[in-house]
Amino acid sequence: MTIEADQAEGLVSLERGELDRTIFSDPEIFERELTTIFARSWLFLCHESQIKKKGDFFEAAMGRDNVLVVRQRDGSIKGLLNTCAHRGNAVCRAEEGNAKNFMCTYHGWTYDLSGELVGVPGLEELYHNQMPAAGLKQVAQLDTYRGFVFATMDAHAPPLAEFLGRTGRVSLDFIAAQGDMEVVPGIQKFIVPCNWKFAVDNLFDWYHPQITHLSAFQTGLLPATPDATGATMKTAGVLSPDGDDMQFPGGVVSGDAGDQLVFVDVYGHAISGPTVEAIGDFGGMIDHSWRNRPEAIEQLGSMALRSFGHANIFPTCWITPPFNQLSLRIPRGPMETEIWWFTFVHKDASPEQRAAAVSGAIHAFGPAGFLEQEDGENWAQSTLQTRGASSKLIPQVLSMNLGRGRVVNDQDGIDPPYIECSINEHAQLWTFVAWQEWLRDSSWSELRDRTVPPEVL
Ligand code: FES
Ligand code: FE
Repeated sequence: MTIEADQAEGLVSLERGELDRTIFSDPEIFERELTTIFARSWLFLCHESQIKKKGDFFEAAMGRDNVLVVRQRDGSIKGLLNTCAHRGNAVCRAEEGNAKNFMCTYHGWTYDLSGELVGVPGLEELYHNQMPAAGLKQVAQLDTYRGFVFATMDAHAPPLAEFLGRTGRVSLDFIAAQGDMEVVPGIQKFIVPCNWKFAVDNLFDWYHPQITHLSAFQTGLLPATPDATGATMKTAGVLSPDGDDMQFPGGVVSGDAGDQLVFVDVYGHAISGPTVEAIGDFGGMIDHSWRNRPEAIEQLGSMALRSFGHANIFPTCWITPPFNQLSLRIPRGPMETEIWWFTFVHKDASPEQRAAAVSGAIHAFGPAGFLEQEDGENWAQSTLQTRGASSKLIPQVLSMNLGRGRVVNDQDGIDPPYIECSINEHAQLWTFVAWQEWLRDSSWSELRDRTVPPEVL
């Protein structure tokens, strides 16, 4: 039995700020997500800097479909499903590299860089010189935005730039506006036993660092000193090793309206987090100087330029501009999510700057990262507790400052829709409101119209 569109109603309440917990482990909902979200949405595949030369390829994931992103001989890019037209075997076992063609290891059918079948063992004797009418299936649409390569399996999806909207474009501009950026070789990949939506929810969660990441702060990995930020971040009851109250950059419990900026936009895209003024330089770790570049001012607009927030291009593309990283939360099963991390540096970065970027990437997030180890434990436990016969009946609460976020629509159309407020759960709630629309399998126009932000969140 599969879940029908009307059963996708009532799982999310915008009015109460509540979710039905079963959405985090129900196998039928997960299967429906694969078709209504991951087989329709534009998904980030890779960055052009990863496939510079003809024959360069990178294997990306679109839901459970594996896609080879291949630089063609004419310089264009194609997205080819990594599944042989004969019996379905993967035609490429490498995660990235350079190839002249792709030969299936099962019976030897061989495809050129464009996916055309060009070699079949025994063509004359077994197929009587009739080349089977088969090739590698391509994604329905592939496009790039400022070097970021996206694709969709839906031929009817709107153009990429339209899908991204202003919030999605600004999210990528956070990295692109810094100059000629490229991906550091080596994508960090690991699996967390949790539902993908917990990992997405958490990227907007500025409420948890003071508790979840206490041990990471205590190691000195991240600064946690009373004057590290100059912002109002008092955390009652949490003591430093010296017995003083500790303050946590980013992980703020602040009642000050305006410390946080939230952007909510069509199709479920959102950005949320403290302002640059509130966060400061993160104890000297963050260089904000790129924000003074004329291109950055022009491209981001005044409000986004003030944001230190985390961005999510719906459904699972997280951009964390403070560390120039992009992460995917790839659904592998109802209770299994694969996390990928891409780290960006400027093309002209010195060896020392590259080493610092890699070191930061390894120590903060990823399989060896302090922060994501601590986060992953919480997501796994939260996912498990959505399965108990009694536990699953308890609603999930996202009501922090509910109804207190007034959405500002910039009449000039430069800034994305935004809310200036104190700490909140607006971005998470907006993500789930949009998620429910996607799960209903709404048409593209319905989807867009129903994800125009309301006046108040
Ligand atoms: Fe690929 Fe047979 S499955 S050649
Ligand atoms: Fe965290």
